[in-house]
Amino acid sequence: MAKLIVSDLDVKDKKVLIRVDFNVPIKDGVIGDDNRIVAALPTIQYVIDNGGKAILLSHLGRIKTEEDKAKLSLRPVAERLSELLKKPVTFVPATRGKELEDAIANLKDGDVLVMENTRFEDLDGKKESKNDPELGKYWASLGDLFVNDAFGTAHRAHASNVGISSNMPQAAAGFLMEKEIKFLGDAVENPRHPFVAILGGAKVSDKIGVISNLIKRADKIIVGGGMTYTFYAAKGLTTGKSLVETDKIDLAKQIMAEAGDKLVLPVDNVVATEFANDAPHKVVEGNIPDGYMALDIGPKAIADFKAVLADAKTVVWNGPMGVFEMPNYAEGTLEIGKALGELTDATTIIGGGDSTAAAKQLGIAPKITHISTGGGASLEYLEGKELPGIAAITNK
Ligand code: 3PG
Repeated sequence: MAKLIVSDLDVKDKKVLIRVDFNVPIKDGVIGDDNRIVAALPTIQYVIDNGGKAILLSHLGRIKTEEDKAKLSLRPVAERLSELLKKPVTFVPATRGKELEDAIANLKDGDVLVMENTRFEDLDGKKESKNDPELGKYWASLGDLFVNDAFGTAHRAHASNVGISSNMPQAAAGFLMEKEIKFLGDAVENPRHPFVAILGGAKVSDKIGVISNLIKRADKIIVGGGMTYTFYAAKGLTTGKSLVETDKIDLAKQIMAEAGDKLVLPVDNVVATEFANDAPHKVVEGNIPDGYMALDIGPKAIADFKAVLADAKTVVWNGPMGVFEMPNYAEGTLEIGKALGELTDATTIIGGGDSTAAAKQLGIAPKITHISTGGGASLEYLEGKELPGIAAITNK
């Protein structure tokens, strides 16, 4: 369903509320990765270039105590945004009240304002996260138009996305939201074949929904990472000390029966005696020996996976192939990332923080068609779920 887009709106002289996802890693006020801020720039720039007043709302982390507020202020994010936009950005350390309302009233066309972390409202009865009706209505009253560009938050029905949308005559998608829907939507609904999904990460339980949805749509599903060994157990292979979700073994059997030869598991693994980079480790095929845990896919698995990827036309990758943060178990993830970067005639999509970090580390990010800014949101999208933040945007 086509959505109303920010470029369909006449923003001139208007107070434009823009919900962005500035939930970036931050420690001691230092931003670890400004990707999500950079990704929101086209929408903000469009609004200010066309004479609108941009009023930005975002959450940052999860606010459970008063102490969390000091660590999770959006002030450093507003400062970074100002550097990126190369213009002053007004930061208001409040989520409601006179200071905020006065600052908004003083905005001139082309100005940008960032209000404080929307989840500061969670200290008072989780008003933001539980989509308190009064809060959504209040925030909506601060602007003339609403643009939702927070794809990363689209799986949440919170006051600052769904709440504002439902109190506005219409809600438009920003350019980032539009791009995410286009690439992930095309991959799920209308992929070029062969369509290969690469799924990794620790737990089968996190990826079941994605596997179930993609079995119907993909030509191959490559599985690596910790979740592999629940499948090993389902096949009757020994798993040593590897991560196995015993309550998911039956489900893994069902998935294997349904997927048939679409499901591609690693034939060999790097196994170690301990969960430590320097632990004694070796490559083994099939059964994982007693006293060992599998921490990466092995060289034969890498070759198999590369062969599957070689003629792919659409690839979606979510989750690492091993304990990628430890150099001795990083090779599987890095080799798969490299193979993705070498595909010249394929639409390649990466979701999830670890695979994105691997892509950056390898310098292949520019060669990837689309790197999603959504973690949970991109997974739920790939599961085929309707995301409340997207559903609340006006259809064209
Ligand atoms: C994310 O980083 O996945 C989004 O910003 C949502 O954050 P949340 O999981 O704290 O709701």
